[in-house]
Amino acid sequence: EKGGYDSFMQKEIYEQPQAVRDTVSARIDEANKRVVLPELNMSDEELAAYDRIYIVACGTSMHAGLVGKEVIEKWTRVPVEVAVASEFRYRDPIYTDKTLMIVISQSGETADTLAALREAKKSGVKVLAITNVVGSSVAREADDVIFTWAGPEVAVASTKAYTSQVVALYLFALYFAQVKGTLAAAEIANVVEHLQQLPAKISTILENDEQIRRFAESIKDATSLFFIGRGLDYAVSLEGSLKLKEISYIHSEAYAAGELKHGTLALIEDNVPVVALATQPDIYEKMVSNIVEVKARGARVLGFAIEGDRELAKTVDDVIHIPTTLPMLTPILTVIPLQLLAYYASVARGLDVDKPRNLAKSVTVE
Ligand code: F6R
Repeated sequence: EKGGYDSFMQKEIYEQPQAVRDTVSARIDEANKRVVLPELNMSDEELAAYDRIYIVACGTSMHAGLVGKEVIEKWTRVPVEVAVASEFRYRDPIYTDKTLMIVISQSGETADTLAALREAKKSGVKVLAITNVVGSSVAREADDVIFTWAGPEVAVASTKAYTSQVVALYLFALYFAQVKGTLAAAEIANVVEHLQQLPAKISTILENDEQIRRFAESIKDATSLFFIGRGLDYAVSLEGSLKLKEISYIHSEAYAAGELKHGTLALIEDNVPVVALATQPDIYEKMVSNIVEVKARGARVLGFAIEGDRELAKTVDDVIHIPTTLPMLTPILTVIPLQLLAYYASVARGLDVDKPRNLAKSVTVE
């Protein structure tokens, strides 16, 4: 069943090139390098009219939503709010007839996500679901569905579902931009080509996991670890931190790097491991100064930089290089070594990677 891998999680991490390829390929009009979403019931006119979006989900799926927010806002200028389903369902959200709700759920059975979907529908709001399970409650009850073609995910810690969800959000954001006319055809074609190159780049990262494995082994007895980043790197940090906590039981926190000096910097002392993501060109300099701040307090920093970067190595203890793609698409690549970090840390601690304590694969209770 595990196909030669030691655990389902490891297998699923290595299935990501395929999962991403399958999720993307059916939705590309090759001749025109545009996105097609024939599965949508809503018309292009209806879609184009939405001027506000709520993305509602839990855990890792919510983290995918955070990346989705950035890309939808960037490419369409439509404001997006991301909310945790267990909070959102008890709120009194501000809906208009131009509000779209997107729910994201790998299983399609998460109780709070499903409840938020039902509340929205009751208020007359249209719901688009991104889910991995055909025939799931979320898939059946949503007005529209974009399926992630990741295949069954067995390990409790979500990996290939996350990358497929993020890719589905890119496709949606591009399609939304197409119908709204907010991106030029050439820009869309450029993103599409980069999307199609992602699977090969993920494979490259997976084939070169020695460095991250060594780092994972070096933190196996750490009591706490920090992930820092800005913008999209912050969104990915949250996911890296959750994954590590979930399967290695090492405490960690993800921090928006610029926010550190407002309190959390007090926790940085000699040898505290910090994973610092610096993959976003527009905020690179700011990120480097945040890294200097933690280094000055004695942190041991593993930096993430884009291939070809020679600067970061001067500031940090070790650098992981991420293959080049568009900055907006980088999260798909950055998250891979973070998943491997959690995986190898869990293995190094002798834990059950696939079945972490206290957790269930599908949270069908509130
Ligand atoms: C973490 C993880 C969970 C799920 C969350 C939502 O690795 O897997 O945080 O992402 O329970 O589950 P779905 O996506 O099935 O609604």
